[in-house]
Amino acid sequence: MNDKQNIQWFPGHMTKTRRQIAASLKQIDAVAEIVDARIPAASRNPDLTEMTGGKPRLVLLNKCDMADPAATTAWIAWFAAQGVRALPVDCRSGKGLNAFVPAVKELLADLLARRQAKGMVGGTLRVMVAGIPNVGKSSFINRLAGSSKAKVEDRPGVTRGNQWFTVRGGVDLMDTPGVLWPKFDDQEVAHRLAFTGAIRDEILDVEELAVSFIESLPVAARPLLAARYKLPDGWETLPPYEVLEAIGRARGMKAARGEVDTARAAATLLDEFRSAKLGRITLEYPERT
Ligand code: G4P
Repeated sequence: MNDKQNIQWFPGHMTKTRRQIAASLKQIDAVAEIVDARIPAASRNPDLTEMTGGKPRLVLLNKCDMADPAATTAWIAWFAAQGVRALPVDCRSGKGLNAFVPAVKELLADLLARRQAKGMVGGTLRVMVAGIPNVGKSSFINRLAGSSKAKVEDRPGVTRGNQWFTVRGGVDLMDTPGVLWPKFDDQEVAHRLAFTGAIRDEILDVEELAVSFIESLPVAARPLLAARYKLPDGWETLPPYEVLEAIGRARGMKAARGEVDTARAAATLLDEFRSAKLGRITLEYPERT
């Protein structure tokens, strides 16, 4: 794996986001952290916990329609072992989202009880929606709140520019203040983000990325690759570049002098993973993180 491309990262933008999140903390009761169910570890920003100052948290394993259901179950158990409730959701279809408001109320049961004891009724629970780009934050907010922008901008002390949305059932959502960039020092993590499209692949060599994808494909997903591209028996022992050639051959992708057009094969492979045409694949399992 030494020949992997070295993806560089410039975390300078985070300073502003950190400041914006800190300034918004007094306005929120909890954090809904959205992660990509296909890469629940790589798609988290590990600094979020510290940035949100111990606010109660729910994790939403989004895009679970594209993830391996067994892996999603394993991740839910893993988060539970850390004391964090994780909900599997699909913000494109809306599946799983009915569980969100009840889960927020359960998470904040103590706060609700305190409010009730003080005779405060009708107050909303305010939740910050946080997640790295492309993880599905807008889809989540649109599904739950539609276009009903909350009229909370007038509240004293509300940071200008924060976007609020009202969800039926007594919850207001705040969109992430700033951009929460992914964080990695590790090329494996960078590559997983690139496979899902969380990092744009324009800056990457698509063939190298596809070779890396083939190399790091979990055992559970290998039959899906073999079936989709009609790979020959014993393909798993081939060098990954030859697997890429076999994929191109299966699709009749010819380049000059009768060679296989591996660049096209690579683009197709990544595209078919990203759109789940390859099947439901999770790239990270809890025991490996
Ligand atoms: P963001 O605000 O966090 O940046 O993410 P956004 O909601 O824009 O979602 C990024 C992409 O992921 C969108 O696709 C969106 O449709 C897709 N997406 C979000 N949630 C889910 C989910 O649960 N399942 C699936 N399969 N896809 C999801 P896009 O290609 O940018 O746009 P489009 O395909 O919707 O046109």
